[in-house]
Amino acid sequence: MKNIKILIDEQTINQRLDELAEEIMKDYPKKDIVFLCILKGSVVFTVELAKRIKNNIQFEFIEVSSYEKNQSTGKIKLNKDISQSIQGKDVIIIEDIVDSGRTITFLKEYILQKNPNSLKICSLLDKPSKRIFEIKADYIGFTIEDKFVVGYGLDDEQNLRNLNYIGYIEE
Ligand code: IMP
Ligand code: MG
Repeated sequence: MKNIKILIDEQTINQRLDELAEEIMKDYPKKDIVFLCILKGSVVFTVELAKRIKNNIQFEFIEVSSYEKNQSTGKIKLNKDISQSIQGKDVIIIEDIVDSGRTITFLKEYILQKNPNSLKICSLLDKPSKRIFEIKADYIGFTIEDKFVVGYGLDDEQNLRNLNYIGYIEE
């Protein structure tokens, strides 16, 4: 069993999610919003954030992969596409973490081709020290240092996604 240390506890995450929800409600007064959840890492964040928002929210899911055994392969593969048209809709991409920025850069361009009315990015975590692609999320939960984190949707080789906090593995 790996030794996991808490980086951000549940209470701190809950408080920040309340704030993010307020920000989004202010920016999209009474509008319908599409939450575009990036599988699988963003599932927990998507649900927990959506529950705090009073606007009508539609869910869409897309799955891409860029990592194998925690190493970036440098390529993005589209595993599952969205199932409804998002043309003319106000879309927020919900991401778990922006690391090199490769995934979100690819997805932003890809989704813009589908002609939404507007497109923003909301990421639970931001790891700016690892950035290769110049991109920043419009909404960021927490900015973290260069640690490999797990929990709250984030995985270590598909494990530990269900932790109710964000942790890191102590070597
Ligand atoms: P990027 O394309 O390099 O920005 O990587 C984004 C993706 O890599 C995220 O959606 C995660 O799935 C994964 N990733 C990056 N850093 C971590 C981490 O610290 N823990 C778990 N997954 C990570
Ligand atoms: Mg991911």
